[in-house]
Amino acid sequence: MQKNLPIMLIYMVLLGLLFWPAVSGLALEVPSLTAEDCQKCHTTEIQQIAEAGGKHRDLLTCVDCHQEHPPRGANAIPACALCHDPTDQRHFSVSDCLGCHNPHTPLRIDYSNASRVAPACASCHTQQAAEFRDYPSNHSLLDCKDCHQQHGKFLSCLNCHAPHLKGQTYADCRQCHQPHAPLKVVYSNTLGSDQCAACHVQEGKNLKQITTKHRLLLCVYCHKSQHKRMPKCETCHFKPHDAGIHKKFPDCKICHVGPHRLIN
Ligand code: HEC
Ligand code: HEC
Ligand code: HEC
Ligand code: HEC
Ligand code: HEC
Ligand code: HEC
Ligand code: HEC
Ligand code: HEC
Ligand code: HEC
Ligand code: HEC
Ligand code: HEC
Ligand code: HEC
Repeated sequence: MQKNLPIMLIYMVLLGLLFWPAVSGLALEVPSLTAEDCQKCHTTEIQQIAEAGGKHRDLLTCVDCHQEHPPRGANAIPACALCHDPTDQRHFSVSDCLGCHNPHTPLRIDYSNASRVAPACASCHTQQAAEFRDYPSNHSLLDCKDCHQQHGKFLSCLNCHAPHLKGQTYADCRQCHQPHAPLKVVYSNTLGSDQCAACHVQEGKNLKQITTKHRLLLCVYCHKSQHKRMPKCETCHFKPHDAGIHKKFPDCKICHVGPHRLIN
């Protein structure tokens, strides 16, 4: 026993050193902050959460997120990934959450100062991202926020482009263009011919001047649904004359001039 005394003393000193921080902490214990304390000093955040905290207000308290407070703890700001696991949803794996979301007003989304937002938007709107990819155009080089300055809102084409024809409205643009695939020009079979004649001035004039029945037809009746689609006379008329005539004059235009300047 006696022989072990010095060793035991060393043990006791070591143990004392080991537990000193805990023992001294116990002696100087300061109560931890509770969620009720925060309002004493942080009125702005309290107010923001009360107004628009959404589920962060309904399901959490301040200290669920702010688990430490300076100067006692440096880990005052939580990572979103603490609760929104990036493997749960594609959207939770994008970067710069704070560029769009204020954690105290999570659904009051303001990304006006964020850098390129397209990857984050595409994490939910996969279809629009696919359209840009499948129909490359100069719009593919823009960022979503150039046209969607707020979530769910959009600018008119006329904010950035002059119309082809005086008086054309946004609704007119949309009769031919899709915003995410602007070069894929498709239209309905009721589109007014003046919309086409804005660029094809001569065809428009010719059709108005003739007296034959083609003047009654819309451009899109013959040039169906897709820009640059070219019909053939025979598609609608087959071969109406004697076989001998068609054999001798295979091109209808020899006698009828053309679809837009049709004579009978
Ligand atoms: C007695 C006043 C007081 C109380 C109570 C208080 N804070 Fe603070 N808080 C401060 C001050 C002062 C700072 C700035 C400290 C600094 O920058 O070192 C601060 C900073 C913060 C920060 C920013 C920390 C950082 O690293 O940028 C957060 C987050 C925070 N407080 C959350 C809370 C929460 C949550 C509560 C309630 C649990 C709370 N505070 C209670 C005074 C207080
Ligand atoms: C969902 C998690 C979450 C909740 C809940 C939350 N906060 Fe925060 N808070 C954050 C994050 C993340 C930041 C850092 C924001 C940033 O850097 O822009 C922050 C920042 C702060 C700051 C520092 C602000 C600054 O300008 O530096 C204070 C103070 C604060 N929160 C207080 C509170 C108070 C008080 C509550 C409760 C009423 C609260 N927070 C609830 C996540 C949360
Ligand atoms: C302490 C856990 C926690 C942290 C940290 C956290 N959240 Fe949340 N968040 C939640 C919970 C819980 C919900 C509700 C979940 C649900 O409805 O599935 C939620 C919901 C949201 C919502 C939807 C709000 C609503 O009202 O529908 C947004 C947006 C959001 N979080 C963004 C963030 C962002 C951005 C961060 C980081 C700055 C963050 N959260 C940090 C727990 C957290
Ligand atoms: C480019 C902007 C942007 C970025 C960056 C961004 N979000 Fe979002 N987030 C949104 C928009 C827009 C919504 C949809 C809001 C709505 O439906 O009204 C949303 C919705 C949410 C929701 C609501 C739940 C849901 O699935 O509808 C959560 C949670 C969320 N974001 C978390 C995050 C987290 C975590 C990050 C970072 C990893 C992040 N967000 C980054 C814009 C962004
Ligand atoms: C977390 C998923 C999420 C993110 C991220 C997100 N959105 Fe949305 N977005 C939605 C939901 C949900 C709706 C509502 C859809 C509905 O009403 O059919 C919506 C609606 C829209 C609408 C209006 C749709 C309509 O038919 O009126 C536009 C435009 C839009 N988002 C663009 C964007 C842009 C741009 C971004 C990036 C800044 C973005 N979204 C980020 C989920 C998201
Ligand atoms: C050149 C401008 C422009 C750009 C860039 C743009 N959009 Fe749009 N987007 C629009 C317009 C205009 C509409 C409205 C279409 C309508 O309903 O008339 C729209 C509609 C939407 C809608 C509603 C559903 C739909 O397809 O009509 C979503 C979602 C959307 N955009 C997401 C995005 C996303 C995500 C990006 C970036 C990857 C993006 N947009 C880039 C102009 C743009
Ligand atoms: C935020 C501004 C903006 C908006 C809004 C916008 N555009 Fe554009 N658009 C551009 C830019 C920039 C270009 C590339 C430069 C150019 O051709 O003028 C472009 C190019 C185009 C092109 C040619 C594409 C190419 O690759 O040659 C078409 C077609 C077009 N836009 C149609 C539209 C239509 C239709 C709308 C509305 C649905 C629209 N734009 C809305 C900015 C915009
Ligand atoms: C009748 C169909 C039609 C309508 C309506 C229409 N466009 Fe176009 N637009 C086209 C065609 C076709 C092109 C040429 C595409 C090509 O060169 O292959 C074009 C080209 C463009 C271009 C590319 C630059 C140029 O002038 O060639 C822009 C920008 C554009 N349109 C914007 C608009 C806007 C803005 C509106 C509405 C005010 C609009 N368009 C209405 C059919 C239409
Ligand atoms: C913005 C101007 C613009 C508008 C609007 C427009 N086009 Fe065109 N169109 C063009 C251009 C540019 C070409 C290519 C001309 C070329 O290749 O010589 C073209 C080509 C054509 C061609 C094929 C010509 C050929 O020789 O192969 C047809 C057919 C045509 N357009 C019909 C229409 C019809 C029908 C409309 C209305 C739905 C229309 N266009 C609206 C600009 C326009
Ligand atoms: C998309 C269908 C279509 C195409 C293509 C077409 N036409 Fe017609 N055409 C019509 C219709 C519809 C009428 C009117 C028939 C009626 O009312 O009896 C017509 C009438 C005519 C008439 C009689 C005119 C009159 O006033 O009595 C002639 C001649 C004619 N077409 C020749 C042609 C020629 C030549 C071509 C080719 C250059 C051609 N068409 C292309 C649909 C078409
Ligand atoms: C009755 C059917 C019909 C109508 C209506 C019609 N087109 Fe055509 N268009 C054709 C046919 C058929 C051709 C091919 C002519 C050829 O083979 O030489 C053609 C050719 C064209 C071309 C190619 C260049 C040219 O002149 O040959 C353009 C551009 C064009 N049409 C635009 C228009 C526009 C714009 C309108 C309305 C203002 C219109 N078309 C109305 C049947 C029609
Ligand atoms: C040799 C000259 C000639 C050629 C080639 C010709 N046509 Fe005609 N076509 C005529 C004449 C002349 C008439 C008027 C006859 C009448 O009123 O009976 C006519 C009438 C028509 C009519 C109106 C018939 C009706 O019953 O109202 C159509 C449609 C027509 N042609 C289509 C065509 C088509 C399609 C082609 C080419 C495949 C073509 N034609 C080639 C000379 C020609």
